[in-house]
Amino acid sequence: MKIVLLGYMGSGKSTIAKALAKELGIDAKDLDKQIEAHVGLSVPEIFKQKGELFFRKIERQVLEDEISKNVEGVLALGGGTPCYGDNMSLISSQENVRSIYLKASISSLTKRVLSDSSERPLIKGIKTEALPEFIGKHLFERMPFYERADLIVNVDQKSVEEVVGEIRDLL
Ligand code: S3P
Repeated sequence: MKIVLLGYMGSGKSTIAKALAKELGIDAKDLDKQIEAHVGLSVPEIFKQKGELFFRKIERQVLEDEISKNVEGVLALGGGTPCYGDNMSLISSQENVRSIYLKASISSLTKRVLSDSSERPLIKGIKTEALPEFIGKHLFERMPFYERADLIVNVDQKSVEEVVGEIRDLL
């Protein structure tokens, strides 16, 4: 089985993917890292030099490649991956894929993205005091896509171990 983790920036997808993969004895992969390897640039540089549209095109290609591989593993998506084109339909249509939404509140997402906002092209230009409203609106737009996941796990105030344990019990 392939496990796909999705959720807003700062929801802990990459961290949980690594810990969950370790727990299950399978590989962890990160879609953003695959995109960076494919293009030969970091995500912020792709946005800067090539633009978001280019990023979304490559994101789709790399998603298709990863999803079609018949190997077990945990794949952490980018925060926007489920929300573009028919990416969420592609994910949901795969019989061997279980998708999990790591759901976090606006306040915990704000705290978590603040620590590394300069690394996140969509958040970079936003002032700290405007961040909760930005995240609130953005999350509201994205929620319908995230909520199409097979499973929803609330990650607020939980340790990595607790989230991993919860997912393991649900699978
Ligand atoms: C994005 C989230 C990022 C990365 C890109 C766009 C988004 O991934 O894919 O900056 O649209 O939310 P993380 O969620 O891992 O930060």
